[in-house]
Amino acid sequence: MKVLVTYFSQSGNTEKIARAICEEAAKAGDANLKKLEEITPDMAAEYDCIFMGSPLHAGSLAAPVKEFLGTLKATSGQQMAGFITHMAPAYPEQDMDAFAEPMKTACKEKGIEYRGCFDCQGFLEEAMHAPVQKKLALDDEKWAAMVKQMTGRPNQEDVDNAKAFVRRLFA
Ligand SMILES: Cc1cc2nc3c(=O)[nH]c(=O)nc-3n(C[C@H](O)[C@H](O)[C@H](O)COP(=O)(O)O)c2cc1C
Repeated sequence: MKVLVTYFSQSGNTEKIARAICEEAAKAGDANLKKLEEITPDMAAEYDCIFMGSPLHAGSLAAPVKEFLGTLKATSGQQMAGFITHMAPAYPEQDMDAFAEPMKTACKEKGIEYRGCFDCQGFLEEAMHAPVQKKLALDDEKWAAMVKQMTGRPNQEDVDNAKAFVRRLFA
């Protein structure tokens, strides 16, 4: 089985999960790790299974990921699973479902089997702290608690959970 793990990542969180997913997927087949920028729709069509990774940006998949999903080729027998990192500690299941919707829609349109989506928390890059604190209207104390909560994420437990997600998929 040929597995592609491709991702968009600005500050390394989604990339960390991508590496873990690829490491685990390599036990089930021939797994390749590629930045989204390195991949073309023709290249993606050559794989049996694609793991597509994105940070959450303004309650949605990152723009380059959504764009790429729209260019996927119809490929019989292909599977896709997603992985998303976000600064919020956790989102209700229906929110995660809504965030993954562009993946599900692309799969439906292209005849790809959608296999679900892994998600975990990821530290918000420092440059975004002031604007996000302002946007969320959090006082310094509440913001400090939020920063403390996301520090170090994705952590080893997130990595282990991502690997377990892969194992369940290939079980
Ligand atoms: C422009 C921008 C928008 C973001 N919007 C959200 C959001 O709506 N919800 C959330 O939980 N995190 C949001 N985040 C935080 C990122 O999703 C999170 O830090 C993610 O782990 C970053 O992944 P990366 O390091 O792979 O780029 C946003 C970050 C940026 C830079």
